[in-house]
Amino acid sequence: MTGKRITVTDFAKMKAEGKRITVLTAYDALTAMLLDEAGIDMILVGDSLGNVFQGRDTTLPVTLDNMIYHGEIVSRAAKHAFVTVDMPFMSFQVSVEEAVRNAGEIMKKTGCHAVKLEGGKVSARQIEGIVTAGIPVMGHVGLTPQSIHVFGGYGVRGKHNPEAVIDDALAVQAAGAFAIVLEKMPRSLSKQITEKLDIPTIGIGAGNGCDGQVLVTEDLLGLFSKFKPSFARRYANLADTISAAFKNYIDDTRDGSFPDESESYD
Ligand code: KIV
Repeated sequence: MTGKRITVTDFAKMKAEGKRITVLTAYDALTAMLLDEAGIDMILVGDSLGNVFQGRDTTLPVTLDNMIYHGEIVSRAAKHAFVTVDMPFMSFQVSVEEAVRNAGEIMKKTGCHAVKLEGGKVSARQIEGIVTAGIPVMGHVGLTPQSIHVFGGYGVRGKHNPEAVIDDALAVQAAGAFAIVLEKMPRSLSKQITEKLDIPTIGIGAGNGCDGQVLVTEDLLGLFSKFKPSFARRYANLADTISAAFKNYIDDTRDGSFPDESESYD
């Protein structure tokens, strides 16, 4: 993909013009390059890498160093897409000062273009502090996986208390975020929030009334077979393809048919 880098002003323009924003996750250079070449608008280096890359049950153990390591690799590889790096659990919750310092570390060390952090009203002061320091922030409300033990599960948010989710989204916007992820909520609620907000909403499990969509790339590719969220559409079944390739290699090596003459030197 050539052309100029996508910026925060492009996202505002896309919302104004009704052009849907496309976002997918990446944790490595190869995926980032493929996404960039396919023309994705934003690459999110999500702390979902705790589940997908590290094989953990939650995102809670993911560290600031983990995010910086993967964020730098992805930011270097993507030449066109806007790159946002997640702030991991306990890198922003303690104080505004700590949040600003850690957001700054992420920006300096990765070369990304924005950070994302979870939480509505509870994170508003942190968002304001980070934005004031000159760092673009994407908010994240609805299901916020870093608070999984407070919620007690990964269920749909805002069914019984839609006003609370709306207030959270408004607080994120008022704090200065340039965009917001709406995760796992009824589509009527995300549509209402999208209409209320001036900033773009990016939905995941939130229906198609949002200004854009985000998925975990491994879900879309059918690579993460341990769990398939019902809202994720599988565009490929790479887990099966890869397993078959591994089995074929093992068989060919064991029966001596790999390598053949063309795969050997004279
Ligand atoms: O960590 C992540 O990948 C995310 C997306 C699922 C929005 O936060």
